[in-house]
Amino acid sequence: MALKSDAAHWGTLAKLFHWTIVLLLLVQGTLGLVMVELPKKPSVIAWFTLHKSLGLTILLLALLRLGWRLFDRRPQEPASMPRWQAIGARVGHALLYALLFAVPLSGWLFDSATALRPLVWWGVVPMPSLTGGAAPAIKEIAQETHEWLFWTLVLVAAGHAAAALVHHFVDRDDVLRRMLPGGRRGGAA
Ligand code: HEM
Ligand code: HEM
Repeated sequence: MALKSDAAHWGTLAKLFHWTIVLLLLVQGTLGLVMVELPKKPSVIAWFTLHKSLGLTILLLALLRLGWRLFDRRPQEPASMPRWQAIGARVGHALLYALLFAVPLSGWLFDSATALRPLVWWGVVPMPSLTGGAAPAIKEIAQETHEWLFWTLVLVAAGHAAAALVHHFVDRDDVLRRMLPGGRRGGAA
């Protein structure tokens, strides 16, 4: 187990960030879609509060992940991979990183604009308002942006996951295996 990535493998920390964030996004996306359909009773507030804290946690993890990524390196693409594919993958990854920030930030912006309740991360850490108080003018656009960015993330992530499966089952290379927990290591580590 090596914490850092090398020329042939993703390190433990990169894998941990990748799969923790995937798992939390699945929970968070489902929670978001379900909670907005619930009858508007006081009991739904707890779900919204959970959604906000979990969303801010994903934002924090994205920040830590990007920080680590700037310090870490990434394994090389397989030599057999055409250049257009390597470029496509890089663009896709950059887009995924951008969305990992944009989705929670737009949710936070919407929450700030409504200024319904103070935003307190897991009920412990008071978070600042991004709008400095209620901002009715941007409320609706922030809400729509949050929803729209979420569906963009779903789309890009689906394409990304499909590409990973093509690598594994069609190209039969190491690209998916080396991102999996406990994936084959050794060689040039
Ligand atoms: C990566 C993190 C996040 C994901 C994937 C996510 C996803 C979603 C989804 C799918 C919805 C339902 C959209 C709809 O169908 O109307 C939603 C709604 C919402 N999200 Fe997030 N969200 C995230 C982070 C946040 C954060 C950090 C906040 C606030 C601090 C937040 C606040 C809200 C609110 C208030 C709603 C309800 C909007 C409404 O009333 O229509 N979200 N989110
Ligand atoms: C919401 C879901 C996902 C997000 C946001 C996401 C995000 C990312 C990002 C940003 C990278 C680039 C890592 C870097 O260069 O630092 C990456 C790599 C990777 N992801 Fe995902 N991912 C998601 C889901 C998945 C799924 C479901 C699979 C598998 C089916 C997968 C397989 C991979 C693989 C194999 C790599 C390494 C690619 C390479 O070596 O170039 N990802 N992911």
